Amino acid sequence: MATNGPIVPYAPRMATLDIVQAGDPVLRRRADPIDPADIGSEPIQALIASMWETMEGTGVGLAAPQVGVSLQVFVMGDHAASVAASDPGWNAHLERGDLRRIVAVNPSLELVGDELADHQEGCLSVSGFKMLVVRSRRVRLSYLDEHGEPQVAELSGWPARIAQHEHDHLQGTLCIDRMEPRSFTDLANASAHWDGRDESEIRATLDLPPPTYRALDR
Ligand code: CO
Repeated sequence: MATNGPIVPYAPRMATLDIVQAGDPVLRRRADPIDPADIGSEPIQALIASMWETMEGTGVGLAAPQVGVSLQVFVMGDHAASVAASDPGWNAHLERGDLRRIVAVNPSLELVGDELADHQEGCLSVSGFKMLVVRSRRVRLSYLDEHGEPQVAELSGWPARIAQHEHDHLQGTLCIDRMEPRSFTDLANASAHWDGRDESEIRATLDLPPPTYRALDR
């Protein structure tokens, strides 16, 4: 029988990180703020680089708790290739044209106006499922960027949804907390029955009421 070798400290500059799944307590605690003086440090820059690497090709947003790190930072940004490969009408339906990429440290998020957006969404930490989630159509995201510079982003449509989803992660909130429970579907059934259908039609089929924003107590 082979014996284990010595444990070697290993801190790669950039790596694809494992994504933790629902049930891991790290997804349920409020993440700690990052000292702005530490944003330029090697560990934080390596974390941000690794989060980008992990997000590429798998999703449009990733928050640090999803890689097991309880710190207030997320990355987000839709992919040009993915948008180009999707139906233009559906992209327009989702308001998906804004490809800006954001690294948000210690973000705060403000809902702007009272327009709602009702769409299916998923989460890399609730892997294999989709659900209807009602979000604010517009938000104002204030944050420090990867250089520690204060930024404010006015977002609407799909990017506003991503920002709300990722900001929720930093509060210990998952999309399943805000979903329409009856709309919960695995990906095979989403593809077979729900994808590409107008949300009002999905609601009618599922006997769901019109969309309302689900505020949470915590
Ligand atoms: Co998520």
